[in-house]
Amino acid sequence: MMNRVARVFGLMLLVLFGANAAAEDYPQGCVSCHTNTDDGDMRLNHMLQRVSHSMAGQRTLVIPDGCDRCHADADSIGGALSTLVHRAHYEDPVHEKFVNEFNGECRSCHAVDYETGKIGVKSGERNWQLRIAPPE
Ligand code: HEC
Ligand code: HEC
Ligand code: HEC
Repeated sequence: MMNRVARVFGLMLLVLFGANAAAEDYPQGCVSCHTNTDDGDMRLNHMLQRVSHSMAGQRTLVIPDGCDRCHADADSIGGALSTLVHRAHYEDPVHEKFVNEFNGECRSCHAVDYETGKIGVKSGERNWQLRIAPPE
């Protein structure tokens, strides 16, 4: 029941805040935006290192689906990913960069099926090599 309420509420917010940006810019969510840019390397292996995450983050193959191993919900060892990721992107200075430079909004990470009204989280394969891999 709580889940259903959260989803309906989420859909409302998605419609309210997500009306006019190009969600299609980020078909795979996290890894479509967190890339190696001219301005610097934004890939998540670097970002996770910046927030002092263990190597377990970099070893995850599918982002963020695979993070569920430790971040499935509030009772998981790492806590709920939603809380961590929402906070990370909706607090300045990240928020300012997220919105102004990347046109970030709910649908940059979330996929909405407009026929069923269901919301999901976009996911994709990591775009970095593990540090333990031999050099190419
Ligand atoms: C539309 C672009 C965009 C998408 C999509 C996106 N992010 Fe980010 N994220 C950013 C920006 C911009 C920053 C700030 C980078 C900087 O300061 O150099 C950031 C920062 C972060 C940080 C570091 C936070 C901190 O406090 O320094 C983490 C961790 C992170 N993102 C994880 C994720 C995960 C996981 C996903 C997918 C669920 C995701 N991001 C999706 C744009 C995005
Ligand atoms: C093996 C378990 C494990 C895996 C896999 C894992 N995490 Fe974590 N993560 C943790 C733990 C433990 C914490 C620390 C929680 C705390 O501070 O209470 C954490 C913290 C975080 C934080 C908050 C860091 C901070 O303090 O600002 C973010 C963001 C995060 N994880 C993102 C991810 C993402 C994205 C993935 C997948 C690419 C991932 N994690 C995979 C265990 C894991
Ligand atoms: C940077 C990526 C990102 C952005 C932007 C984002 N979300 Fe999320 N959201 C997530 C992730 C990751 C989860 C956790 C999914 C999971 O655990 O399966 C999540 C979960 C949720 C949930 C499920 C309930 C919960 O909290 O666990 C709702 C509702 C939600 N988001 C609403 C929103 C709304 C509304 C916005 C825009 C204001 C938004 N999200 C923006 C990444 C994002």
